[in-house]
Amino acid sequence: MMKLTPRVFSGMQPTGNLHLGNYLGAMVRWVEMQKSHECLYCIVDMHAITLWQEPAELRQSIREVAAAYIASGLDPKRSIIFNQSQVAQHAELAWIFNCVARLGWLDRMTQFKEKAGKEKERASVGLYAYPVLMAADILLYRGTHVPVGEDQKQHLELARDIAQKFNNDYRDSIVASGYADGLFFPLPEPLIQGPATRVMSLRDGTKKMSKSDPSDLSRINMSDDTDAIARKIQKAKTDPEPLPSEEAGLERRPEADNLVGIYAALADTTKEEVLGQFGGSQFSVFKKELAEVAVARVAPVNAEMQRLLGDPAEIDRILANGASRARTLAQPILTEIKNIVGFIQS
Ligand code: AMP
Ligand code: TRP
Repeated sequence: MMKLTPRVFSGMQPTGNLHLGNYLGAMVRWVEMQKSHECLYCIVDMHAITLWQEPAELRQSIREVAAAYIASGLDPKRSIIFNQSQVAQHAELAWIFNCVARLGWLDRMTQFKEKAGKEKERASVGLYAYPVLMAADILLYRGTHVPVGEDQKQHLELARDIAQKFNNDYRDSIVASGYADGLFFPLPEPLIQGPATRVMSLRDGTKKMSKSDPSDLSRINMSDDTDAIARKIQKAKTDPEPLPSEEAGLERRPEADNLVGIYAALADTTKEEVLGQFGGSQFSVFKKELAEVAVARVAPVNAEMQRLLGDPAEIDRILANGASRARTLAQPILTEIKNIVGFIQS
C-alpha cells in the first residue's frame, strides 16, 4: 500500500462567541497535535455563510478566531493557520465532491435538520451541502487525522464515504495515474478523545454548550472576565446530591457529569481523579474550585487574544502567509484529482 504521510486538518466556524466547548473539545487537542504532526488549522468562513452573517461581523469574527487559535497555543510557524476562502481549491474540490456524494447521504445529516429547523424549504443550499465542503477541506490535503468534538462525528463519516466512493468510482483512472493500489484518498480518521468531547450547557446537562444558545448563562465564553466565569459556574444547574466518589456515580446525573468533565479537562486530568479528590463534597465547594481552575485557564488566553486583536494587520499577514502555504500543498493534489476525473488542464 502507498504510504500516506499523517496530516492533521481541523477547522472552526467564525460565527460569534468562542466558548469553553470549542476550547476544550477542539483547540486544546489541536495544540497538542502540533508536537507530533504536520497540522493545518482552518477558519472556515465559507461554512459560516451557510447561515446569514453580517459582513462586518464576519470579518471581525475571522480575526477573533485567528487570535483565539494563536492565543491558545497554535504556532503559525509550525502549523498552517489560514482562512478557507483564501484558498480557492476548497471550493473547486467541493464541486467535484458534490457530484460524488449522494442526496440520500446528506438527507441523513442530523446537524442540517437541527440548523434548518422547521422551515427546511427556506434553508440555503449551502447549509445542505455543508458536509461536502467539509470533506473537501480535509481531503484537499489528503488529511488523515481530524481532531473534533463529538458533534462532528457524522460529518466525518460522510467524508470517509466520499473518499471511498471517489476511490471506487475512479479506480481505473486512479491506477492509470500511478496509484497501483487504487487508493487516492485516505479515509480520514476522526479523533474524538478526552474528558470534554461534548461540553454541555451549564443550564441543561442534556444540551451541548453552543454559540447559538440564547442564554449567555449556558456557556463560558473565552472572552468572559473573572466575575462572569465565577457567576456562571455558581449558577450552573446541579442536583442536590454530593459528588460521587466514582465515575459510575455520574450516570443519570448529566449536570454533575458535565462539571466534573470540564474540571478534568481544564486541569489536564481524568474524571476519576477529580472524583477521587472531590467525592463526597457538596457542589458549593466544588464549584468554587472549578471557577478557580477555569479562570486560571481562560483569563491568560483571553488577555493574549485581546493583545493580538490590537494589531489586525498582523493577524491578516499571518492568515495570508498560511493561505499561501496551504495553496502550495493543495494545488498539486487538486491537479491530480482533475486529471483523474478527466478534465483537460493546460
Ligand atoms: P464550531 O464552533 O461549530 O465550528 O465547532 C468548532 C469545534 O468545536 C468542533 O470541533 C466542534 O466539535 C467543537 N465543539 C463545539 N461545541 C462543542 C461542545 N459543546 N463540546 C465539545 N466540542 C465542541
Ligand atoms: N463543521 C465543523 C464544525 O462546525 C467545522 C469544519 C469545517 C471542520 N471543515 C472542517 C472541522 C474540516 C474539521 C475538518 O465544527
